[in-house]
Amino acid sequence: MKKPSPLSLVRRAPPRLRKELECVLISRTQIHRRVRELARQIERDFRGRDLVVVSLLNGTVMFLADLIRSLNLPLRLDFMGVSSYGIGTVSRELVFTKELRLEVRDRDVLLVDDILDTGKTLKAVITKLQQLQPRQIRTCVLLNKPARRVERVEADYFGFVIPDLFVVGYGLDYAERYRNLPFVGVLKPEMYQA
Ligand code: IMP
Ligand code: MG
Repeated sequence: MKKPSPLSLVRRAPPRLRKELECVLISRTQIHRRVRELARQIERDFRGRDLVVVSLLNGTVMFLADLIRSLNLPLRLDFMGVSSYGIGTVSRELVFTKELRLEVRDRDVLLVDDILDTGKTLKAVITKLQQLQPRQIRTCVLLNKPARRVERVEADYFGFVIPDLFVVGYGLDYAERYRNLPFVGVLKPEMYQA
């Protein structure tokens, strides 16, 4: 996979959000450029395959919408709901809130999530999907936070490696807020330490 570009310039948050956000970590321009690169790689790897994209709710909304619009491939799309119950920045017990509806047996599955953090979510979802006997499962995440990994799981495609910071925006939330921001920003610790 082509190496993601290093995160360099960190920008100030828009005025409305400066009390809540430390900074903009990844701008919308950086995201869009990188999503197109990921799409080109996925096209090369899945050309001629019977692709089913399985996206995890709710954090993938923006990433998924941009990624699949960039994918010049026939595909089918389905969602799985998985929630790490409870608000806050610490993930807890996983609960499946929506099951897959498409048949994935002998299909090529591209599993999409917003961020790979401890790896508990991807690990649990991959285990569940494997029981449906797809031909292969590849994983694609926008963000990769390797410092916090506890499960042995890696993403086949990822947009950006980020340091151990709690980030929001471009689909990612804190207590269901900030998903609509068009960039990825760093939430101020006092926002969740209160
Ligand atoms: P994991 O199971 O620990 O890998 O975490 C995956 C899930 O935790 C993601 O799908 C997110 O919903 C959430 N998560 C982990 N880190 C962050 C973050 O920095 N910001 C927002 N959500 C996060
Ligand atoms: Mg979340």
